[in-house]
Amino acid sequence: MLSTSDKPKFYGRRQGRRIRKAKTSLLDNFLPQIEITKNSVFKKEELFGIPVSKVYLEIGFGNGEHLAEQALRNSDTGFIGAEVFKNGVANLLTLITGIKEGADLPETFCLLPNRVDNIRVFSDDVRLLFKQIPDKFIDKLFVLFPDPWPKKRHASRRFINQDNLNEISRILKPGGILRVATDHKIYKSWTLRQLHERTDFRWTATCGNDWKHEPLDWVETKYQRKALAEGRRPVFLDFERKE
Ligand SMILES: C[S@@+](CC[C@H](N)C(=O)[O-])C[C@H]1O[C@@H](n2cnc3c(N)ncnc32)[C@H](O)[C@@H]1O
Repeated sequence: MLSTSDKPKFYGRRQGRRIRKAKTSLLDNFLPQIEITKNSVFKKEELFGIPVSKVYLEIGFGNGEHLAEQALRNSDTGFIGAEVFKNGVANLLTLITGIKEGADLPETFCLLPNRVDNIRVFSDDVRLLFKQIPDKFIDKLFVLFPDPWPKKRHASRRFINQDNLNEISRILKPGGILRVATDHKIYKSWTLRQLHERTDFRWTATCGNDWKHEPLDWVETKYQRKALAEGRRPVFLDFERKE
């Protein structure tokens, strides 16, 4: 068990509005079936309910739309989602079980019939999970619309920083991709600067503005919609882990 002093400080929200009955029940009764704990075995054949050929990690999945849809599209891939915000975790569970508020709650919860058991959830700060993940375990890693912490005095809170990049570099396979999306000018420059300092990543952009367009395998997220509604155009930065 980690003592409070071992835990990195987390500055975002852990819970928002009161979580209603169906979602509370999903958190209590279904999450433990797919939750990553300190006893989880990080082997591709064991971590998920099915054997998988690749593993993707999404950090800060928010409401879970991107994670749920990517997992549906890629049934031979295992997905690990890390999210601190309890309401977001509950929303992901709704998306993958189809259990909505007001519906009769079943005795046991299961995935929607069109899904395979390829999602595992870490419902806490991903920095506490990093040390459990073996070297080169992850094929693709998503950090989508991270909290921008735009004030200079809060820069150390930005998730893309050298300490986290060291862990990301360790767990990504050579040739694996780190994808960062942001709608924030400061965060875009910050991310490019952080990655530019390193010799272990290569920005994959090939022409002047391909990074201004959604990648082919993209799924829209809540924060992307919010940004577009408020007139901010997101950028999509893919970095390859060098051999
Ligand atoms: C601005 S939201 C974006 C959510 C989602 N990716 C989207 O695009 O809609 C950032 C999310 O990252 C989560 N987050 C921030 N730091 C985290 C960490 N260290 N571990 C896990 N989740 C984190 C926050 O709780 C929040 O839900």
